Amino acid sequence: MDVRHIAIIMDGNGRWAQAKGLPRVKGHEAGAQNVRRIMKAAKQAGVKFLTLYAFSVENWNRPKLEVEALMRLLKHFLSEYENEFHESKIRLRIMGRKSDLPEKILKEVERVEEATAAYSDYTLIIALSYGGRVELVNAAKKLAERVESGELKSSEIDESTFVSELYLPDVPDPDLIIRTSGEFRVSNFLLWQCAYSEFYITPICWPDFDENELEKALESFASRDRRFGGLKNIRGSVTSDKK
Ligand code: IPE
Ligand code: IPE
Ligand code: MG
Repeated sequence: MDVRHIAIIMDGNGRWAQAKGLPRVKGHEAGAQNVRRIMKAAKQAGVKFLTLYAFSVENWNRPKLEVEALMRLLKHFLSEYENEFHESKIRLRIMGRKSDLPEKILKEVERVEEATAAYSDYTLIIALSYGGRVELVNAAKKLAERVESGELKSSEIDESTFVSELYLPDVPDPDLIIRTSGEFRVSNFLLWQCAYSEFYITPICWPDFDENELEKALESFASRDRRFGGLKNIRGSVTSDKK
């Protein structure tokens, strides 16, 4: 069974550091380094889109020092990884409320997005200042504006018009959503897109989630019976009258 898109809630940096008697920021540093390992491993496994939840809209409520450290790490991440994006032909995209980001970081992010825009085999999506509810409200607002301007009739609104106003309308929904560090919740991640995603939750904290752990997640995914509300036929594909 193909996994085209994996999305990961990279949780547990703080607990990883705490368990080692280190400050939380050290956990975030180790977490940022781990991105490289998983970015490569997912590519090797044939995945086309990897979405990483790096910072939620709610994460702005953390102590100022931690938020500042995370923003610094992000800037560092961009300059450290840029060569690799080019060497391995990785497209970088950001999803989230970009206007929340400090000006310098936003510029940097947009520059790297532009510089890698032509790579089409593998896309790394960083969810940054991302909130699923914000994304949905935003889409509703944009549709309302289009109706107000007369460009769109309310009767024309369907799932595909709605999707067209989400952050990355051209990206397929995640097949598999992984959450590290054991929490069984979605924390405002990809609320629209997760409708038929398979979930995999592991107690391993994000900095320790290595290639083997990814392999385990993929094995678990391979054993799932994805039905999409239909019935499974003998060959394992979903049956429906719709062709
Ligand atoms: C995930 O690790 C990274 C971010 C949310 C930015 P946490 O910082 O949430 O780590 P825990 O959950 O406190 O262990
Ligand atoms: C989810 O982790 C967000 C990211 C991994 C960026 P949180 O640590 O913020 O989620 P909660 O607070 O445990 O739900
Ligand atoms: Mg957390």
